[in-house]
Amino acid sequence: MKYLADTANIDEIKELLNYLPIEGVTTNPTLLAHSKKKLSQIIPEILQLLGDKMIHIQVMSEKSEDMLREAKRYRDYFQLNEKYFVKIPVTKEGIRAIKMVKEAGMNVTATAVFTQQQALIAAKAGADFVAPYVNRLDNIGAQGVNVVSDIVKTFTLHSLPCNVLGASFKNVNQVYQVSLNGCHAVTLSYEIFNLLIKHPMTDKGVADFTKDGIPYYDIQF
Ligand code: E4P
Repeated sequence: MKYLADTANIDEIKELLNYLPIEGVTTNPTLLAHSKKKLSQIIPEILQLLGDKMIHIQVMSEKSEDMLREAKRYRDYFQLNEKYFVKIPVTKEGIRAIKMVKEAGMNVTATAVFTQQQALIAAKAGADFVAPYVNRLDNIGAQGVNVVSDIVKTFTLHSLPCNVLGASFKNVNQVYQVSLNGCHAVTLSYEIFNLLIKHPMTDKGVADFTKDGIPYYDIQF
C-alpha cells in the first residue's frame, strides 16, 4: 500500500518526506486554501520537495472540455511529467473528462468517490486511481471502509488496472481497516501520519533501553 500526503502545507510535506516512506502528495482546492498560497506559488514549492514522486492536482472546472484544458495548462505551466495525476471529481462531466484527459496522455485520479458504482465507472473511463472518501462516508451513516473494500474487490473481480487511493481519513482505525482490505494507496493528513506511528509502549520501550544501556554502550561514534 502506497502512502501519500494529503496536504499543501510545505512544512508538513518537508517533514513527512524527510521521515516517512511517502510516495507522493495529493492536493485539493480546500487544502490549497488552508495553505493560503496561490496555485502558481505552491505547486513549484511542492515539486521541488517531491523529486520524482507523484503529485495529484485537482481541476476546478465544471465542464469536461474545460477540465481537459485546465489539466493541460497545469501540465505545461508547471512542466509536469508522468508523475502528474489530474484529480477529477466523478460528476457526469468529470467522467467524460476522465476519458478525454486519458486520451490526451495524462494520468487521472477520480476523486470525490462515494459509491462502488462511481468507482467502477471511473475505472472503466480509464482512471488510474479512484479516491473514496472514507470519513465523509462514515459521517453520513455509511461505512467508508466497506465502500473501499467493495471497490477493491470489484477491480480485482473485473481485472481492472485501476488502483484505490483511500482518502478522507480521520482516525487510525480507518487506515488500519482499509490496509487489511487490500487498498492500494492512502492519502493522509500530517496529523494522521503522526498518530499512525505513535505508541506509548514504543516510547516506554525506548526510554527503558536508554536507561539500561547507557552504562554499557562504551563505543564512541
Ligand atoms: C482526497 O483526495 C481529498 O483531498 C481528501 O482526502 C478529502 O479529505 P477531507 O474529508 O478531510 O476533506
